[in-house]
Amino acid sequence: MFTLAPSLLASDFSNLESEIKRIYMDGKGCKYLHLDVMDGVFVKNISFGLPVIASIRKVCGIIFDVHLMITKPIRYIQNFIEAGADMLSFHYEACDNLEEVLKTIDLIKYNNIKCAVAIKPDTPVDVLLPFIDKLDMVLVMTVEPGFGGQKFIDKCMDKIGELDKIKKENGYNYFIEVDGGINFDNAKEIKDSGAHIIVVGSGVFKSPDIQETIERYMNV
Ligand code: DX5
Ligand code: ZN
Repeated sequence: MFTLAPSLLASDFSNLESEIKRIYMDGKGCKYLHLDVMDGVFVKNISFGLPVIASIRKVCGIIFDVHLMITKPIRYIQNFIEAGADMLSFHYEACDNLEEVLKTIDLIKYNNIKCAVAIKPDTPVDVLLPFIDKLDMVLVMTVEPGFGGQKFIDKCMDKIGELDKIKKENGYNYFIEVDGGINFDNAKEIKDSGAHIIVVGSGVFKSPDIQETIERYMNV
């Protein structure tokens, strides 16, 4: 499986319904929509949150892949599930300790939705090993979280291969999602390294022919 999850962060916020429909294409386009939630504390930026997600939930059946860039995510898991998240990614670095990471995973899984842990560019894959068997997905950040439109950090490419190796050696089932700075120059290498889902923001929503761009990314 290899697919594309456009990031709503790069869309026109004054027209969210039509922006989502442009990528969903009545089920013929993208299956996943990536939603970047930022609190201004864990990352410098503030994006959108619960009421926006609950509102757009009503207009489209696309899978909501919610990427929480918020401090102590455990406080808000229940709220994001109620707002309509189908998959929740939270940051390893945003939790106080391992116990909190484990509790957050359990809370998400208890609600029967997909659970992912995200790691920043400087965080090694090894930190995930104590709980990686419980995860539905690992989110590898390939830019510093906080802003769209940044340059891909090359050293992160190896982490995709490492995660692919761990998955195959142990028979785990998690997807590998890669997020940040992805374009047509690096998408193929990311796919070949083992990624299942690539997140693209600016490259999709700012493209002149969105339909062609989506097809090209899905078939790199
Ligand atoms: C950054 C976000 C990314 C970002 C990707 O914190 O997690 O999802 O929007 O955008 P581009 O494709 O522009 O790097
Ligand atoms: Zn993201």
